[in-house]
Amino acid sequence: MSIKFEKVNHIYGLNTPFEFQALKDVDLEIIPGKITAIVGHTGSGKSTLIQHLNALLQPHSGAITIDEFVITKEKPKVSLKPLRKKVGMVFQFPEYQLFEETIEKDICFGPKNFGVSDEDALLIARKTIKDVGLDESYLSRSPFDLSGGQKRRVAIAGILASQPEILVLDEPTAGLDPQGAIEMMQLFARLNRQGVTIILVTHNMDHVLEYCDQVVVMNEGQVERHCAVRDLFNDHSYLHTLNIEMPIISKFINDINNCGYHLDGAIKTSDELIKALKEQLNG
Ligand SMILES: Nc1ncnc2c1ncn2[C@@H]1O[C@H](COP(=O)(O)OP(=O)(O)O)[C@@H](O)[C@H]1O
Ligand SMILES: [Mg+2]
Repeated sequence: MSIKFEKVNHIYGLNTPFEFQALKDVDLEIIPGKITAIVGHTGSGKSTLIQHLNALLQPHSGAITIDEFVITKEKPKVSLKPLRKKVGMVFQFPEYQLFEETIEKDICFGPKNFGVSDEDALLIARKTIKDVGLDESYLSRSPFDLSGGQKRRVAIAGILASQPEILVLDEPTAGLDPQGAIEMMQLFARLNRQGVTIILVTHNMDHVLEYCDQVVVMNEGQVERHCAVRDLFNDHSYLHTLNIEMPIISKFINDINNCGYHLDGAIKTSDELIKALKEQLNG
């Protein structure tokens, strides 16, 4: 599988007084099978970038290649259905897009749109509702009776029902309580273990450290850095220039290393941290 941006430029409001270049010569190759975080300040181009992955936005120049699909300025929109099956896109606050009277109908909408029979769509709905951590009894309920976090799960199930190989999510944990956010990240980790490539925009550096493999830092419409998560959190001088909130564990490791310890800046969990501390204290 290949997921590649080559010299991608995107301009909003071309030839109007509001013209704004949101992506500038973006070259980027996302590693299939991994969880990649897209981070960066508000307005840096994260949402614009990811919407090119299923051609919701088209570049003004350059190309995006997703396996056999090549998205350019010229590509006609009619051939995009198989691309949208392959690349599932979850917008910010996807729960606002629930509209059917039952959750079952909402989840079945996508598969039916891609030509799946009613019976098979129902089988898929029964599976995906469980994949997002809810049981089958939810299928006959109205999506509007759920909590915010549950609604979001149902909305994500609706995208998963089309069995995408690549799942793209724009700030999927925004507005969730901390526990709900952790469960959401665990859901993506589980899907990733089942083989789904995950690309997600987030501001939560704790989540990046604990759940993601790769990170892309966007700045003013450009990819400023693309590296393994552990390399980002080991590079303290770069992190300072970024002016982003460090993960709590990374902050702690930085402070303790300033006292003469040598802990690995890529430690992800408190268990790993305790183990490493014990080794140094006993060693
Ligand atoms: N529909 C639009 N029309 C004009 N400008 C836009 C539009 N959408 C986004 N922009 C501008 O493009 C830039 C990048 O936006 P966006 O990709 O949403 O950034 P991010 O997701 O990183 O916050 C911002 O300056 C934003 O104001
Ligand atoms: Mg955004």
